[in-house]
This record gives sequence, structure tokens and C-alpha cells, in this order.
Amino acid sequence: MEKLIIEGGQQLQGTVRISGFKNAAVAIIPATVLAGDTCVIDNLPQISDVKILADMLSSLGATVKELRPNTLEINTTAMKDCYADYELAKELRASYYLLGAALGRFKKAKVAYPGGCSIGSRPIDQHIKGFEALGAKVTIEHGIISVEAEKLVGAEIYLDVVSVGATINIMLAAVMAEGTTVIDNAAKEPHIVDMANFLNCMGADVKGAGTDVIKIKGVEKLGGCIHTVIPDQIEAGTYMIAAAAAGGDVLIDNVIPKHLEAITAKLKEMGVNIIENGESLRIISSGNLKNVSIKTLVYPGFPTDLQQPMSSLLTTAKGTGIVAETIFEGRFKHVDELKRMGANIKVEGRVAVIHGVKNLTGAKVVASDLRAGASLVVAGLMAKGETEIENVQYIDRGYDQLEQKLISLGAKVRREHRE
Ligand code: EPZ
Repeated sequence: MEKLIIEGGQQLQGTVRISGFKNAAVAIIPATVLAGDTCVIDNLPQISDVKILADMLSSLGATVKELRPNTLEINTTAMKDCYADYELAKELRASYYLLGAALGRFKKAKVAYPGGCSIGSRPIDQHIKGFEALGAKVTIEHGIISVEAEKLVGAEIYLDVVSVGATINIMLAAVMAEGTTVIDNAAKEPHIVDMANFLNCMGADVKGAGTDVIKIKGVEKLGGCIHTVIPDQIEAGTYMIAAAAAGGDVLIDNVIPKHLEAITAKLKEMGVNIIENGESLRIISSGNLKNVSIKTLVYPGFPTDLQQPMSSLLTTAKGTGIVAETIFEGRFKHVDELKRMGANIKVEGRVAVIHGVKNLTGAKVVASDLRAGASLVVAGLMAKGETEIENVQYIDRGYDQLEQKLISLGAKVRREHRE
């Protein structure tokens, strides 16, 4: 059992470099199945989700080599089909991207129903709707999703819910379908654009990514390519919030400021000074901030993945803040842990009302999921005394070298192995 121990109250100073985007990486790695060739993916974050996916591809017949710590060479030539059983797929939700990629290349795939964070029901009906619209037969038996098609024919698909996963999975299945596919009401997140760039680099014809209408003209075959993953919008946002919470002067380097507009606007509203300079943001904060309200929305709205870290920041801001979580119905599991640290929060359904308190106090707390873990780190940086966070493995799924980066900014953080 690993724990993070944080001694709160230290201001943060210095520079932190943001790693590659987890949610882009966990889609692009499975997408290499489409190439049937060798791809080199650079700027991958060193997180457990990337390692799990690399091992998964290897066990499915691909050859995966680590060229450098953040660079994988993935050769999927030898793969003949794709059957990811429960043992393989249970580790992470993104295993479902193998369905779209293997359907696109082999016209068939079997993947165990996805696992993932406990933040809500997380249905995949829109993924299935897209695959069926392209001509695939989808069955779910004994916890295995099977997709199969004689051939895939382009179609017009309207997403009933704006879904990142469904948008990407349909793109993967459609790139070598006959004819044109149009995805209406598509997700517009930065990693959708990164995926489209990767697919086009392999020889696909994808247009409109980043808007709510994506057009995909099917091509005969794809080939290998070299791709650099974009910086992690959510990791960057988490460090922005941590700097605002702890107070200090932090330069967050290797970011795309455009991707962070929603969080930048909210932090400025609270009284944080943010200076944009090319690919970096400078965060200057006294730590004494005004409370605000946030509502999570699809991109370019306030990202649901930053709702939990932001909720921690609001617990000691002056006044009252309202947090409305419109994307996932179960994304307030961190609230009970924040209350153990002295937060004054009341949750009613998808809304949390946060009354700012003078300070939090360190406590033993448990991370229930990846971003809940991040919210407890933010709280621990602010709290008086020591905070001990259990279930650090959740945090390691999505944050590359978290404690090293925080320590380099002056935080007092250590990892302990406890039986
Ligand atoms: C991706 O999850 C991310 N995960 C999540 O990040 C992120 O919170 C989410 O997008 C929203 O931005 C990865 O990229 C691996 P969705 P995904 O499909 O694709 C509903 C993190 O912390 N929906 O956009 O599963 C769904 O219930 C993780 O890094 C359907 O109804 O999210 C939700 O309410 C957590 N039917 C909404 O859409 C479907 O078929 C958005 O979900 C699919 C989704």
C-alpha cells in the first residue's frame, strides 16, 4: 500500500514542465492497431495507464519498444485480430478504444466490458450506436463486447450525448470504411484534434475535428507515422489550481494556453494573477482568494476532470461557491474526505455548495479515483499539518512524477510504502 504524506503550508515557487496528455495517449496507443505498421509516439507521460496499454498491445501480438522514457515504437504488423479479455481490459476504461481500432482494421474485435474510475455509470451506448451505423454487429455476452462486420460503410451518426470516447471510437472504426462518415454533435476536446492529426498522419482523411461536425472519408489503408502527443490540459490545470491554493509564484511550462481558458478565467475571477507567455503560464497567488461558482461542461467549458481539484481550492476561498457537475453523476466522492479536513460542503445531487473556511487541517484521507486523488493533494498542500493520502495508485494513473514535480516547487511531499 502506497501513501503520499504532505506537510501543508508551503508556498510553491519555480517551474514545472507539463507532460503529454493522458487522455490523448490512451487513445493514440490503441489507434496504432490501424496502421499495421510501425508508429513512433513521442511525449508520452510516464504513467501507469500508458504502461498498461503498452503491455496490452504486446500481449495482443504487437511489438512495443521504449526508445526513450517518453517514446514508444509500436509495430502492429503481426497482429491478426484482437481479443482483450477481462484480465487484460479490466485495468482501464480506454481499453475500449481497441474495439474501434480493431473493427477498423480487422472488421472484428472482442474486448471485455471496460473498467475505469468510479465517477458514474459510464455507459457505452453511443459507441455501439456508431459501430452499428457503420454496419457492424455488436453483441455483449459474459461481459465481453464483440463487434463484427462483413464490411464497414460510411454513415451519418448523430451523438445523443456529446461523448469524447464515442467520438474517438467512431473515428477509429470509420477511417477505412467505404465512403464518408459524418459525426454530428461530436466532442471538441483537444485530444479529439490530437487523434485526428495522428490518424491523418497515418494517411486517413479526417476533417472538422475540434468542431461538432467531423467528416471522415474512408481510405484503403493506413501506414506508420511519428506523432508527438499534445501537453496534458488536465495536468496543467491541476498545477494551476495547486499554485493558486498553496500560494506563491509558479511557471507552468509546455502548455497550450488556449486549452486552459476556462480554468484561467475562473482563477482570475478568484483573484489569482495569471500571465500568459507563449507556451507557459505564470501563476502568482497570495492564497487569499474569493469564492466562485463553476459548472462543468464539454470543451471549451470548465472540464469535469478539474472539478474535484477546484472544489478543494474553493473550500478555503472567502464566501460561498456552487459547483455543478453536469457530466458525471458520481463525481463528488472526494467531498467526504475534504470534510474530514474541515471543509464545509453540502452536496445535493449534482450540486455541491461550498462555504469557505479559514483553513483546512491535515488528516488521513483516501483517494476514490484519479481526480479525487488530485483534489486531496491540493487540499493537503493548503492544510495546516500533515495529510496522508491512501490509494496513491489512482493518482499514478494520470500524473507523471507528481511528487517529484511538487517537491521541485518547494512542497513537502513524500511517498511511503506501508503494508
Ligand atoms: C473521457 O471519458 C475521459 N477519459 C474522462 O477523463 C473525461 O472525464 C471525459 O472524457 C469527459 O471529458 C478518457 O479519455 C480515457 P464521455 P469518456 O464519453 O470518454 C455519457 C480522467 O479523469 N456517455 O465524454 O468515458 C457519460 O455517461 C477521466 O482523466 C453516454 O451516455 O467520457 C457522461 O455523462 C475521467 N453514452 C458523458 O457522456 C456513451 O456511450 C461524457 O462521457 C458515452 C458517454
